Amino acid sequence: MAPVTPVQRVPPGVREDGEDTSLLRVEPAGRVEGVARVPPDKSISHRAAIVAAMARGETVVENFLPSLDCLATLQCLRQMGVEVDGPDAAGTIRVRGRPLQEGGLAEPADVLDTGNSGTTFRLLCGLVAAHPIFVVLTGDRSIRRRPMQRVVDPLRAMGATVACRKGGLAPVAIQGGQLRGVRWRLPVASAQVKSAVLLAGLQAAGRTVVEEPLPTRDHTERMLAYFGATVERGDGWAAVQGGQHLRGQRLRVPGDISSAAFVWAAAAALPGSRVLTPGVGLNPTRRAVLEVLAEMGARVQVEPAREEGPEPWGDVEVAWAGPLRAVHIRGARTAQLIDELPVLVALATLAHGTTVVEDAQELRHKESNRIEELAAELAALGLHVQTRPDGFVVEGPQRPEGGEARSRGDHRLAMALTVVALAARRPSRIHEARCIQTSFPGFAALMHQLARPGGGCVVEEDRDGR
Ligand code: S3P
Repeated sequence: MAPVTPVQRVPPGVREDGEDTSLLRVEPAGRVEGVARVPPDKSISHRAAIVAAMARGETVVENFLPSLDCLATLQCLRQMGVEVDGPDAAGTIRVRGRPLQEGGLAEPADVLDTGNSGTTFRLLCGLVAAHPIFVVLTGDRSIRRRPMQRVVDPLRAMGATVACRKGGLAPVAIQGGQLRGVRWRLPVASAQVKSAVLLAGLQAAGRTVVEEPLPTRDHTERMLAYFGATVERGDGWAAVQGGQHLRGQRLRVPGDISSAAFVWAAAAALPGSRVLTPGVGLNPTRRAVLEVLAEMGARVQVEPAREEGPEPWGDVEVAWAGPLRAVHIRGARTAQLIDELPVLVALATLAHGTTVVEDAQELRHKESNRIEELAAELAALGLHVQTRPDGFVVEGPQRPEGGEARSRGDHRLAMALTVVALAARRPSRIHEARCIQTSFPGFAALMHQLARPGGGCVVEEDRDGR
């Protein structure tokens, strides 16, 4: 295999101490128009690499997302002896698996740094717990504030020795070993925790059943099945029998529907817009955003492609079709829109009527507190949303003034703010924009290419160090 590609630990625009000095300048745009190739799906890229590491033989993943989060997953796998080649210029990685049945993962000589990535952190906890190795996982300041007890508890119940900081915080130290299957009811709807338990369960003795309070993205179930495992599924549960063998595969990752959501939201907001996004993932547990945009008044057309690989995908066109209308989002729909809520709330400020988002308390535990921090930064652009413990109330339509806002280190906040800044009266500056690299490399260039007339986005170094 070719030598491993070194991972750039500190991207340009970020100082060694983690301070993000990059700045996104946004000029208001008349409309957005054109073909937008959105980056590969983040959730599916992580799972492709992790499941490949558990499989016998070689896996080839095309269109792997080369974002900081997914590169962190590859780096952690390499630290445990998994040979990973790439991503090459075309976005292909090759992974040579180290299944438990063939000796499994090697003990890493140092802590695993998951960066900003909750998916890397939680899925790797599930992966390593079945191995007789000692692993310490940590991450950036945001990761070290996010709840990890939810993944510590099931792994302890399965027999792993797990320690963490007070309050269930990272770093988390795992002494893995022979696990036993469990029946585990998730305390919150979380695909990451469900996935961690299923990955551990696949390597445990006996059967593991995970019950979820609301349906969450099912990429892990699909990926495991694609690699040859039998995954039983019912209403609100998934189960695996331990000790199954996985075989290396070839697959292509579709475009990320959660990244496409930012482009579509801009198209829905700006009169005369029309954007075509080819090759986007259309997993039924992720596509509620299309329904909501249509309900808000955008024209949404979906052309499904022939299904190959573990995930459905297709081409989606979103066009402006009139003034936007308010929506009500709650219950199962909230869980399925969890990553799109920041941009939908931003968009709701432009819509006629009162938008209500309920049951979204999990937003407080994402890369930032996506309820309070989103509201504060929208206010910095002249937009007012009322926060609630579990969501938002938004009265519209409002016209964004534009101004100076910051991402709070959260990629989805940076991009949601950019969308409304495109609709603002005057130019805006979004500070701490480098975090966009965690999921959407090339975001500013893409928005710049789509925005017309005049407007657009440019990322530059922050000179005033706000
Ligand atoms: C993800 C699950 C969700 C989501 C995150 C990606 C995944 O997190 O917000 O961006 O890939 O499984 P939770 O599991 O914490 O809900």
